[in-house]
Amino acid sequence: MSGTGKSTAEARANLAFVKYWGRADPTLNIPLNGSISMTLDGLVTSTTVEFRKGLARDGLVLNGEVAGERERVRVAKHLERMRRIAGEQRFAHMESVNAFPKSAGLASSASAFAALTVAAADALGLEKSREELSAIARLGSGSASRSLFGGFVEWKPGKDHDSSIAVPVAPRDHMDVVDVVVLVETAEKRVGSSEGHDLTGTSPYMDARLAHIPARLDKVREAILARDFDTLGSESEREAIEFHTVAMTSTPSLLYWLPETLRFLHAVRTWREDGVRVWMTLDAGPNPHLLVPRADVTRLLARVKSLGYEGARVIVAGVGEGPRVVGKHLF
Ligand code: PMV
Repeated sequence: MSGTGKSTAEARANLAFVKYWGRADPTLNIPLNGSISMTLDGLVTSTTVEFRKGLARDGLVLNGEVAGERERVRVAKHLERMRRIAGEQRFAHMESVNAFPKSAGLASSASAFAALTVAAADALGLEKSREELSAIARLGSGSASRSLFGGFVEWKPGKDHDSSIAVPVAPRDHMDVVDVVVLVETAEKRVGSSEGHDLTGTSPYMDARLAHIPARLDKVREAILARDFDTLGSESEREAIEFHTVAMTSTPSLLYWLPETLRFLHAVRTWREDGVRVWMTLDAGPNPHLLVPRADVTRLLARVKSLGYEGARVIVAGVGEGPRVVGKHLF
């Protein structure tokens, strides 16, 4: 921990096989169920934080532009929590760069709050474990708790702030799973996950979902530990459909799927019949995340291209590492 008042960290997005959807405590982001993810290589957010004398408030520049007030306030609120922990008085200037489209169902808030938490903790000289930083990142965005680790990660729901933390399940090199993300839409989503979490209680299917999530968490964790790709994939696909069932049957109904989303759900079934080991999951957005073992990536990309998606519309992300402090600042 440098404690010099300025630090830069990078953190990666993550993809959940078992999703976080619904909260027991909306202020502390304590989830109703546990979740398991892989950290995504390449989907990096880099953030520099500098605490300075003489600033009247926290400032945020996102991808080279002064951030909108809503985003600035959300980030300032997070920084305020960390200031309080450290007994810091000064406001900060922050700059953040995403290596991928924001708010396209790619959990950019996860990498953003993980990078911010690690950079601010380092700048403030906070001596905290990765688990403790995971709990702090969770306050900014629930899924950010999982981006505090590389590889395969489980967020234990816990009962209070200190117990609701992510823990590693397996390291990055344990299993070579690839997430091929197809950007069928890159526009910002209309309903953010925050609102979605608050609506889960209105779906008649939420109780059924919660009842069998513990068994699914066991199955997915065991599939990862056993390097059983097909169980991991098939459970992830069922899980995505169930989570979207809850979203669709909430009031108001959250319909994230586009016609292209359904087209891919059908396509992966056909591709599997043809011997490609591919399964599909989705976040709170329409973009297909195609899970595939590294050996099947080339064959899969040819199929994806046949549906009209290639180049910048397709992101190929392997299992990524955890956050780290880097020496090169953004300003
Ligand atoms: O961290 P949030 O509030 O953006 O919620 C993330 C929700 C999902 O991405 C849909 C699921 C997950 O576990 O990442």
